[in-house]
Order: sequence, then structure tokens, then C-alpha cells
Amino acid sequence: MEKQALPLKILEGKERSTGYISVASGKGGVGKTIITINMGRILYSNGKKVLLIDGDLGLSNIHLMLGITPPKNLYHFFSGDVPIEDIVVPIEDGFDFISSGSGIRELVNMSFGKLKTLLLRLQEFAEGRYDWVIFDTPPGIHSDTLAIVSSSQIPIVITTPEPTAIADAYGLVKVMNSSEGLKEFFLAVNKVSNEYEGKKVYESIKVVCERYTTAEPKYAGSIKYYPNLIKRIISQNPFDNNLIKDLTQILTRLYLVQRTSKESFWEKLLSKLRK
Ligand SMILES: Nc1ncnc2c1ncn2[C@@H]1O[C@H](COP(=O)(O)OP(=O)(O)OP(=O)(O)O)[C@@H](O)[C@H]1O
Ligand SMILES: [Mg+2]
Repeated sequence: MEKQALPLKILEGKERSTGYISVASGKGGVGKTIITINMGRILYSNGKKVLLIDGDLGLSNIHLMLGITPPKNLYHFFSGDVPIEDIVVPIEDGFDFISSGSGIRELVNMSFGKLKTLLLRLQEFAEGRYDWVIFDTPPGIHSDTLAIVSSSQIPIVITTPEPTAIADAYGLVKVMNSSEGLKEFFLAVNKVSNEYEGKKVYESIKVVCERYTTAEPKYAGSIKYYPNLIKRIISQNPFDNNLIKDLTQILTRLYLVQRTSKESFWEKLLSKLRK
């Protein structure tokens, strides 16, 4: 596996606290999970401690791509069955993931006090150990997703150049803007044939955002279509050098414009989940 070095200057700014990235899309199958896993890999190979969380509270798929079946997942944690430590699965030393498991949505009816205690435990665990937490989310505009994405410091919306994916990306942004007040977000265009195509997709979304919303998309960059990727996924070895090259450029852009938020990710998330 090639190591792609991120500019040091950029890495130094993030030493103190945990950063939260979320990866979202309107349409399914645009590459969120493979992007989440490979982004985590890049940060990890640059010396960062990374936790991936499957934010798909209905159908989780990070573990399928990695070919690791965790015995316990977020469902067990939220049910009160197991401590947080028992649901964290190492990919490598300092590069971990948490699988969501199905059925969590039913637990969301739990009392405010209980939800708060559980999120606090997640916060304590994550902030003591990781430089970056990356949430992979399900496609669409479910309220859990909106809460996770709009609480993150770095929300990334993924689309492809397909008109349906573009329309759904805009649909997601519109809802996040109107119901969650999300303004700044990053747009990455996956499965492009060249950089120009990616930029054009970004421009088209920017135009409608400016006309009909107060959202301000920032261009994160594009990722080329790599026909061999499917073979990696089938063999459950999702780390890919081509993808890592494109994503390294994207991560470099995200860091440069990263802003620090005073309010904690977890506080925001709790208030949004309870809205
Ligand atoms: N840059 C790329 N080049 C070629 N194939 C890609 C690329 N990115 C993703 N894919 C393929 O697209 C498919 C969907 O990828 P992935 O599961 O990561 O999408 P997703 O957005 O997480 O899907 P879902 O919405 O179902 O969770 C996979 O088969 C993957 O191999
Ligand atoms: Mg996925």
C-alpha cells in the first residue's frame, strides 16, 4: 500500500481535538462507504488515530467491505448490553470501526436522559482516543442522517455525474439547509472521467444552491472512475491506491478551509436527535 503524505503544515493544526467528518449522499451507491474507508486509511497512514462509524442505523455496510463481522455493534451498546469498548473493532492499531447493526431506530424512542448518557460515553471514548471520527451514512434524508451530517465539522456530500445523483444531492442539501440550518458543506464528485467533468457537476449544484437556498457548497474535488475497484470490493480488500491518490488531494483541500466550531459535535447531535 502506497503512503500518500499529507502536507505537514496542515496536519499540525488539528493536534488538540477530535475532528468529525461525515460522508453523505442523496442517491445510493455513489461511493460513500468505499470513500469513508479509504479516507480513514489516508489519515491513519499519516499518523492519525481514526475511528470509522457506520452511521447507517438500519443497514450497515462498512464491515461487509472490510470482510470483518463484529460480534457486537451499536445496537448492543444502545440496548445497554455491552460497554463501548466491546463494539470497537480494530482494522489496525489505532484505526478502528464501529458497526451500526439494525434496529437502532426503534431504540431512538428511549428517554432523553438515557440517550444523553450513551452519547456522552461515546464522546468520552472518541475524544480520548482519536484525531478523526468519520461517519459513513445511508443515502437520503432520514432525520438521523441529517442530524449527524449537520453536526459534523466537515460534512461531505458525494455525487456522481449522473443527473439522478445530482438531483438527489441537491435534494439532500436543500433539506439540510432548510431544516438544519446547514450552510457550508463540501461536494465531492465520484466516478468522473476527468477533473473537468467533476468541476462542471459542482458548478451546476452551486448555481441552484445559490438561487434557491442559503447553502454554500465548497468544491472538495473529484475521484475518477476505476473499473477495477469492484474486484477489490468483491475480495473484501477495499483499500485502493488510485482512490487514495484522488482522496489525498480532496483531504488536503478540506483541511485548508477547515473551521473550528465551539459547540461539541455530540452536543449538537443530541439536540438535533431530540428535535
Ligand atoms: N471511483 C470509483 N470507481 C469505480 N467504482 C466505484 C468508485 N466508487 C465507488 N465505486 C463502486 O460503486 C459501488 C458502490 O460503492 P459504495 O458501496 O461505496 O457506495 P455507497 O454510496 O456507500 O452505497 P450505499 O448508498 O448503498 O451505502 C461499489 O461497487 C464500488 O465499487
Ligand atoms: Mg454505503
